[in-house]
Amino acid sequence: MTRRPYIVGNWKMHGTRAMLSEARAIDRAAQRHMKVEVALAPPYTLIHPIHREAEQIAVGAQDCHHADGGAHTGDISAAMIADAGASFVILGHSERRQDHSEGDAQVRAKAEMAFAAGLRVILCCGESLATRESGGAAAFVRAQLLASLPPADEMPAEVAERLCIAYEPIWAIGTGIAATTDDIAAMHAEIRALLVDLLGEEHGPEVRILYGGSVKPDNAAAIFAVPEVGGALVGGASLTADSFMGIALAASEPFES
Ligand code: 13P
Repeated sequence: MTRRPYIVGNWKMHGTRAMLSEARAIDRAAQRHMKVEVALAPPYTLIHPIHREAEQIAVGAQDCHHADGGAHTGDISAAMIADAGASFVILGHSERRQDHSEGDAQVRAKAEMAFAAGLRVILCCGESLATRESGGAAAFVRAQLLASLPPADEMPAEVAERLCIAYEPIWAIGTGIAATTDDIAAMHAEIRALLVDLLGEEHGPEVRILYGGSVKPDNAAAIFAVPEVGGALVGGASLTADSFMGIALAASEPFES
């Protein structure tokens, strides 16, 4: 990893104020691992309380709407989450794509809105088990990213800072079965090549590519050793400070000798 590893916890629909103590513990631990960038994406209701107290970690959201406001009952805009203290947003997660029928064009519109609101974007991609078994995973992910990313000339100038890709094979999410390091290496190489095609030699190599899907403290070091893995997007194992910071420690160790 050339850039500082980026370890992001996606709390999904977990967490009431009772979880604030866990966020505090994560924030305190992150202060001891400054070589790793640690961030949390709690449910919307916890963004502001965590942001208010956090001294080290960044706080983000798990989604936002593609419009900047209006008659969209139950939705929330990029500007609103930024106002609550979010500095980044996860977009295009497979659970949003599946549960809310989000398509690539919608994800792209959300990304444009998020960039306009000054947020960093973690854009998710990943294939189903059926697609992987048919041998079409690389082509699927390439097409999904091409259609979900804003065009290069509409990206923010500091795109390597503001954009991050998360490769999350759907079959590895919440199953306890992470992708093999060979599969991760192959897909991250594909994504890197696509980013260089799209963004050029200056920015394409710098955008971080995270792996997500059953990352745990005991498999994290092997995953972080894979070329082009710039960190992890962590679901279940981000819910306690112990397991989440075990992953952050695995990311910081290669840098601590
Ligand atoms: P798990 O770490 O629980 O497999 O979830 C991964 C994920 O979906 C993160 O966005």
